[in-house]
Amino acid sequence: MSTALVILAAGQGTRMNSDLPKVLHEVAGAPLIVHAMKAGAALEPDRTVIVAGHGAEDVKKAALAHDDSVEIAIQSEQKGTAHAVAQAAPLLAGHTGDTIVLYGDTPFISTETLERMAKARARHDVVVLGFNAADPARYGRLVMNGESLERIVEFKDADEAIRAITLCNSGVIAAQTATLFKLIDAVGNDNASGEYYLTDIVGLAQAQGLSATAILCDEAETLGINSRSELALAEAAFQARARAAALEDGVTLIAPDTVHFAHDTVIGRDTLIEQNVVFRPGVTIESGARIRAFSHLEGCHVSRGAVVGPYARLRPGAELAEDTRIGNFVEIKNAIIDEGAKVNHLSYIGDAHLGAASNVGAGTITCNYDGVMKHHTEIGRNVFIGSNTMLVAPVTIGDDAMTGSGSVITRDVPEGALALARSAQVDKPGMARKMFEILKAKKAKRDKGAE
Ligand code: UD1
Ligand code: MG
Repeated sequence: MSTALVILAAGQGTRMNSDLPKVLHEVAGAPLIVHAMKAGAALEPDRTVIVAGHGAEDVKKAALAHDDSVEIAIQSEQKGTAHAVAQAAPLLAGHTGDTIVLYGDTPFISTETLERMAKARARHDVVVLGFNAADPARYGRLVMNGESLERIVEFKDADEAIRAITLCNSGVIAAQTATLFKLIDAVGNDNASGEYYLTDIVGLAQAQGLSATAILCDEAETLGINSRSELALAEAAFQARARAAALEDGVTLIAPDTVHFAHDTVIGRDTLIEQNVVFRPGVTIESGARIRAFSHLEGCHVSRGAVVGPYARLRPGAELAEDTRIGNFVEIKNAIIDEGAKVNHLSYIGDAHLGAASNVGAGTITCNYDGVMKHHTEIGRNVFIGSNTMLVAPVTIGDDAMTGSGSVITRDVPEGALALARSAQVDKPGMARKMFEILKAKKAKRDKGAE
């Protein structure tokens, strides 16, 4: 059966105290809206509609960047959750399967939970995801009668008896698409907020002889983000899960609490991660690599047996082949480092290809940017780049070549050649001693003047 996903993301998120729409704030390097999309993707939806309002253009851009097949509905005025879902109705007209509604600010709903909801949908017309709240606060309350969900009462409209219920509404609702929109059509706004509540569809369904039920999940899954402190809590919760998952997957973390993962980090087993390592989005690491302390990785691939760091920075497009070595204070950007090649100290390698078994000496820089354009540096196999070489791109260094330390290489170096591009050394016999005497005399004169 086909499933449509509707993700509500029109709210401003006033409590974030931010110019950025709430759903664009990030957890583990991805906007909240992307987490919601990833959660919903578990259902393999054939349609995904995001309801945007505040900052709609930016929300649309972020959503499409993650998945260009999603559709955007605009809710220009926020009149409540039912009104928000109604904005997706024209796009989903004629959809024959189910629709499931998620919130863009609730990033952690699990695949397993959504699958349980889909199963329950086979038995009931409306399925709501609920949870037992440690502190039910201002959540909507689920009024159950056995397995049947009778109605949902919003906190503002609840009396003391209803407020005493701890079973709360997460906001996730599933129903057959046509049924959902028919019920939403009947929702009014005669309530304490003057809003069109999506939650009212449960009572309306019961009144029409349809059935409704609630599926329960862990409260941690329904964590919604409304403030910066909840954003920090969500980040901490994500990191705790990611660390536990890495350990479970056979990755050694010497100090798990100091390693920060991105939403999409992939690490093979028997990889060792030292202290204080940060993974930004787009990192894959093969089995048996070692990432040493204080390294920062983003958009890169590290192969088996490679050693990175300590204090290394791998930027987008860094591709390290097997058994490569990237050492301290080395930055690699958009560069392929072939098997067994080494860049061990204080270097910048950007927009480059370094051939197998080549060695780059300390302080080497690929001068890839001329102030307007970026240029490529090509270094062959078994090359030795002397310390402090400036490789002014575009430039090619042939296989088995060498550059002398301190060279500024502006022309291609033929294979097997030694390139020296630095001023020649001149020795002046006895001159140093003379210089010392002159300088010491000058100092003595100055010190005397100061007395
Ligand atoms: C909603 C539920 C409540 C539930 C709680 C869980 C309703 C009426 N209430 O309350 O039962 O316990 O979530 O967190 O549904 N949104 C729009 N357009 C609107 C209004 C909201 O897109 O006009 C979006 C918001 O951006 C947000 C989500 O819908 O992502 C929920 O809206 P919010 O105002 O936070 O609802 P709550 O009052 O928390
Ligand atoms: Mg809310």
